[in-house]
Amino acid sequence: MSVNRQFRLKQRPVGRVGRADFDLVESPVPEPAEGQAVIRTLYLSLDPTNRVWMTDMPQYLPPVAIGEVMRGGGVGRVVASRRPDLKEGDLVTGLLGWQDYAVAGAPGELFPPTVIPDGLPIPIPSLMGACGMTGLTAYFGLTEIGTPKPGETVVVSAAAGAVGSVVGQIAKIRGCRVVGIAGGAAKCAFITEELGFDAAVDYKAADWKEQLKAATPDGIDVNFENVGGEIMETVVGRMNLYSRMPLCGMISTYNDVQRPRYDLTPFLMKRIRLQGFIVLDFKDRYAEGSIQLAQWLLAGRLKARETVVEGLEGAPEALNMLFDGGNIGKLLVKL
Ligand SMILES: NC(=O)c1ccc[n+]([C@@H]2O[C@H](COP(=O)([O-])OP(=O)(O)OC[C@H]3O[C@@H](n4cnc5c(N)ncnc54)[C@H](OP(=O)(O)O)[C@@H]3O)[C@@H](O)[C@H]2O)c1
Repeated sequence: MSVNRQFRLKQRPVGRVGRADFDLVESPVPEPAEGQAVIRTLYLSLDPTNRVWMTDMPQYLPPVAIGEVMRGGGVGRVVASRRPDLKEGDLVTGLLGWQDYAVAGAPGELFPPTVIPDGLPIPIPSLMGACGMTGLTAYFGLTEIGTPKPGETVVVSAAAGAVGSVVGQIAKIRGCRVVGIAGGAAKCAFITEELGFDAAVDYKAADWKEQLKAATPDGIDVNFENVGGEIMETVVGRMNLYSRMPLCGMISTYNDVQRPRYDLTPFLMKRIRLQGFIVLDFKDRYAEGSIQLAQWLLAGRLKARETVVEGLEGAPEALNMLFDGGNIGKLLVKL
């Protein structure tokens, strides 16, 4: 391929993301300057946080500027290099962006790419999901903030998604009763029958609050929160004294213009420990987390699932799958 296609942010989306929010710009494949390397993107990771980066609300990284290549995680192969730490043929992961070719060492780079060791017995999609950033989010958020103990009840929302599916499986490994909240019968069957969750709550069913009550007879000790909104408030209503709530995400609100308001009284009355976190908080421990996740995967104790969409050109529309529930497990774009 001799052309580099790049999605550049044209305007800040209002509501759902649309193709019109981006310019698709074509330019020659870049040549590396001294200290740089050029990476051919193989897979892009689509994440709810992409939607947040498109806004200018206060957040944990700078918003993507208008005219800038859309930021996105990915895995790619080094095709040309003028730096000693990256050699041609290396498989790397990093913020490659929504483009065919990324330049490592370009001005404004937030994090340098990381080399993935050769010959790992794990397919690339799983290295991006269950054993990658979303798996690490599940691992550190649950074990370090949720601190689940054997016999406790753990509830996780967006339970059939990338983070949620791993949270539930780790909680099972830790000896907990695990209840997942997901949209629709197919996803509920996936988490109970394929992943081994103890119960599923279909939040799209009219009686979902009764389902939650029936599934949590002893209340809830850990709520791994991925969704926010009414689901979060209902789960908080069933949390126990001194329970814990890792606040990982609030996907139900990312397309909203108005920030939501919540009643914090239950946190006081029930002394619930609420802690927001970003996986980057644990970056010094990624190796430890990745090794543990990979060991579980290879031992058959952790199942990885991905939804793969073909073609860079479909990335903006594919992002909406996360908000429509169109994915099971990690959502990726294959280039
Ligand atoms: N803190 C961190 O470092 C960090 C890192 C990664 C991800 N996250 C957060 O973790 C959450 C999950 O991310 P992910 O990458 O694993 O995505 P995901 O769960 O694979 O995909 C998102 C899922 O959310 C569900 N969903 C969407 N809108 C919803 C709504 N209004 N109400 C209820 N469920 C809804 C959909 O499943 P259903 O079909 O079940 O509705 C969808 O499949 C997000 O909030 C994300 O921001 C945080």
